[in-house]
Amino acid sequence: MNVKIQKYDPSTDAGPYYKTYNIPWKKNITILEVLVYIHENHEAIAFDYSCRGRVCGRCSMMLDGEPVMACYTPVGKDRDIVLEPLRGFPVIRDFIVDKSKTRDRIAKIEARVRSKLLVQSDITAKMDPDLAKKIGNLEWCCRCLSCIAACPVINEDKDQEKFIGPAGIIAIGLRYYDPFDEGDRVVEAVQNGLYECIMCGKCNEVCPAAEIDHLGVYSELREEAKKKGLEP
Ligand code: FES
Repeated sequence: MNVKIQKYDPSTDAGPYYKTYNIPWKKNITILEVLVYIHENHEAIAFDYSCRGRVCGRCSMMLDGEPVMACYTPVGKDRDIVLEPLRGFPVIRDFIVDKSKTRDRIAKIEARVRSKLLVQSDITAKMDPDLAKKIGNLEWCCRCLSCIAACPVINEDKDQEKFIGPAGIIAIGLRYYDPFDEGDRVVEAVQNGLYECIMCGKCNEVCPAAEIDHLGVYSELREEAKKKGLEP
C-alpha cells in the first residue's frame, strides 16, 4: 500500500509538504502500526499515542480527510491512503498538534461548581441508574477532539469564539447531569454556542465513543434552555 503523509517541522520547513511511502499491507493493520512501520523502516515521523485503546485521545489524525483514532482504525484492505495531522489545530511537528487551548477550556468547564464541600453520605448515596448511565456514557469522551476537526461550524469559526464545539458541550452536559454540580450548565451551554450547532451529527459520526449521543445531549440542553426562556 502507498501511504502519503503530511510532514511539517515549523522550526525548519517553509510549509507542510507530502511524502509517500510504500509499505506491506496486512490484515487488520492499524493506522498507528502504519506510522510505526514508516518510522522504523523509512524515516522518523513525529506522532503521539499512549493507551492504544481510545482512552487517552492522543492519536487522533486525519485519514483521507476524515478524523480517526490511529490506534484502533484498521486499513481494511490493501489500498492507498493519505494521513494528515488533526485539522484545525496548530502543528507542532508532523502529526503532533497543539490541543492545549481547547483542552484547557474544557478542563475549566469540567471543574465542579459547589458552594459547600461534599460529605460522605452525599458520595455514597445511591444514584438513579438511568442518570448514572448518562454520566457514564459522557465520561467516555477522551478529548481526542476529532469532533472539533469534523465540525462544520468550527471550520467557519476557527477561534471557537461563538461555539465551543462538540467536546465542550459534552463537558457541559456531563456537569449538567452531575447531581453534585450546582452551576447553571444550561446558561453556560447557551453562552458557549449551544444554538450555533446545526445538528448535522458529524460529531457523532467521527466520535470514537459510540456511548456518547451528542445530538441527544444537545437536544436535552436545548429543551431546558427553552423552558428557561433562553431559546434565541
Ligand atoms: S493511543 Fe490513546 S486513544 Fe489512541
